[in-house]
Amino acid sequence: MATPNTWLIIGASRGIGLEFVRHNVSLGHRVIATARGSSSALDTIRQNAPDRVKVLTCDVSSSDGINEFIEQFVRSGEKKIDYAVINAGILEYPNRSLEMSFDHFAKHLHTNTVGPIIVAQKLLQLRDVAIGTVAFMSSDSGSTGNFLGFEDGFAAYSASKAALNQALRHMAEELKRKKSKTIILALHPGEVATDMGKIDISWDIDGGQIAAEDSVNGMVQVIQSKTIEHTGTFWTWENKNYPW
Ligand SMILES: NC(=O)c1ccc[n+]([C@@H]2O[C@H](COP(=O)([O-])OP(=O)(O)OC[C@H]3O[C@@H](n4cnc5c(N)ncnc54)[C@H](OP(=O)(O)O)[C@@H]3O)[C@@H](O)[C@H]2O)c1
Repeated sequence: MATPNTWLIIGASRGIGLEFVRHNVSLGHRVIATARGSSSALDTIRQNAPDRVKVLTCDVSSSDGINEFIEQFVRSGEKKIDYAVINAGILEYPNRSLEMSFDHFAKHLHTNTVGPIIVAQKLLQLRDVAIGTVAFMSSDSGSTGNFLGFEDGFAAYSASKAALNQALRHMAEELKRKKSKTIILALHPGEVATDMGKIDISWDIDGGQIAAEDSVNGMVQVIQSKTIEHTGTFWTWENKNYPW
């Protein structure tokens, strides 16, 4: 196999994040995975490859949760992350603009926008840790150029991903101004059959849902194919450039 890499997967207890862990461990890579609480799925993977898998705690919805994760990460002694995937996210359906509460809207923004950006910011502030790529799990729902107006019940979710997109684009530009070589990417994983994908929506998904294995297999190739020239760009799991 190629040289083993170190992957950091934030939000890896289940779904797409868990599949990123499985996929990369099966290829012989090292993985630092995070969950909010205990995860038997992650524990099993770690037991089978204890020298290559670390599990840390990270709740992205609060400043304290992020700070505790950063402290654990520093204590772990890791000095190099080849690929960080900031995957954690929520979709509490429905979240219509005409119905959602202040707190419900804020919960989507905290978890899907503020938390992911602050996790990345705090990792990038660790002066003795080299980070190759930070890939944020966005969504086609967050695109304003390709606005999906038929997605009834997705107002807070799509707003949170659109805001994530704008903040990560600024992160890419700020890093460029500092001459940093860290690559910042946004990804759309496709319509994936996970717990999040189980909601009862009223429209047809073009092409149906894909398996997490197929989505992750595609995204890993997308992430690894990008260089610093691609920083601040948005890609689907099929390696198609997506409109912001
Ligand atoms: N599935 C799709 O079709 C689809 C499409 C577009 C984009 N996405 C994006 O892909 C990402 C993964 O989605 P998924 O389908 O795998 O969803 P999922 O099965 O619901 O898994 C979500 C993951 O995020 C974690 N998470 C939720 N809130 C968190 C918090 N406050 N702090 C840390 N971790 C938290 C969950 O941990 P717990 O187990 O602790 O809850 C879980 O590991 C999300 O960002 C989602 O928006 C998914």
